[in-house]
Amino acid sequence: MVMHKDERASDPLTAGAGGKRDHQQSAAVGGVSHAAERKPTAGASSNDADSQLKSTADSGSSNDAQHQLTSGSGNTREHQKKPVRILAIETSCDETSVAIVEDGRRMLANVVSSQVDIHEKYGGVVPEIASRKHVETITVMLEEALQQADTSLDEISAVAVTQGPGLVGSLLVGVVAAKTLALALDVPLIGTHHIAGHIYANELVQPLEYPLVALVVSGGHTELIHMPARGEFRIIGQTRDDAVGEAYDKVARALGLPYPGGPHIDRLAQMTDDPLELPRAWLEQDSYDFSFSGLKSAVLNVLNQTKMRGEVIPPARVARGFQESVCDVLAEKAMRAVQEFGARQLVLAGGVAANRGLRTVLAERCAQAGMQLVVPPIELCTDNAAMIGAAAYLKWERQSFTPLDMKAKPLFTLEEWMNE
Ligand code: KG4
Ligand code: ZN
Repeated sequence: MVMHKDERASDPLTAGAGGKRDHQQSAAVGGVSHAAERKPTAGASSNDADSQLKSTADSGSSNDAQHQLTSGSGNTREHQKKPVRILAIETSCDETSVAIVEDGRRMLANVVSSQVDIHEKYGGVVPEIASRKHVETITVMLEEALQQADTSLDEISAVAVTQGPGLVGSLLVGVVAAKTLALALDVPLIGTHHIAGHIYANELVQPLEYPLVALVVSGGHTELIHMPARGEFRIIGQTRDDAVGEAYDKVARALGLPYPGGPHIDRLAQMTDDPLELPRAWLEQDSYDFSFSGLKSAVLNVLNQTKMRGEVIPPARVARGFQESVCDVLAEKAMRAVQEFGARQLVLAGGVAANRGLRTVLAERCAQAGMQLVVPPIELCTDNAAMIGAAAYLKWERQSFTPLDMKAKPLFTLEEWMNE
């Protein structure tokens, strides 16, 4: 059975994130803050038969980030205390990833094995296959991460793992691996929230400043989050139906594009200046919520009608029209939230944060408003374990650890996580 995001969301046994990877995106647009301007990390790559292994931490950019965050701070206490090395695991959907993150900010290793090639032929993530692949790959990722970080297991301070939300079978593989390691090494376990991870991925390249507003856009989530302070999350808006990445993937499928479709629509959208006219779902005047299923249906209707008339509409026009509608609504609501909450930064996060149309419109709007836009480098937009190591550090700071009998939580909320 192939899971699409909407099905996952309604089924607690399978609910969660999904969608996948963009290997083709270029550097971020201009006009945004340091994190976005940083060149994407190239990293060493290797391939095995089934999975594509992506490494991001041994490259120049992680070193840049390290440099930026340690040098010039003048904080001698920081330098004296022993660094906290969190080994982090992410298996919530179809990426198997292990990272080692120091003090929540320095990425010593971040290896990602994507299953996208396997799920592509089914047009979506197949949960059973995803879990099995995680089981096969997790130990290899672990060894690779330790090697890349030049770290031995006895230097690990804590083990972090994505506890949810996500596909339950996929989450379980990471959770079992993390519990085993924490027990064997006799170090704390830190169950971590996937969306907090997406947001704190940004802190691997640039300190976050509060209050901020985070726009989280991925295959399973579309959320506007007000963060009055570090580690405080207030969801002010979310999708009432499809997640934005899910809508991208469905429209892409209707256009005959491969899965995951987001990057393909993004690429096509750059090829024309003549967008198909499509509606915008603003919802109620004051609402920060989103809805994308009407837009998706509008696209499907246009495609069906033109087909019935024997006409052809250039796919680039459809892609451009769809992308403009999505980005207009996301940007308008994000900018309104930033004003209302007196935010110091607008932080973009999640797989769809790789979208060039979205980056461009947000950069323009933020430049006009004198607002700092923080955008993660492309390889930290999609699922990876370094972001989990960064978010887990919030819990380390509070010395708030997770019992070894913890369970994977496919429908975990941010509030639940922080109040644990
Ligand atoms: O964050 P992510 O890796 O996984 C989830 O947690 O969902 O996001 C994957 C989603 C997919 O729906 C994919 O189509 C979308 O992100 N995506 C994009 C782009 N790159 C990835 N959507 C639009 N434009 C892109 N450039
Ligand atoms: Zn994700």
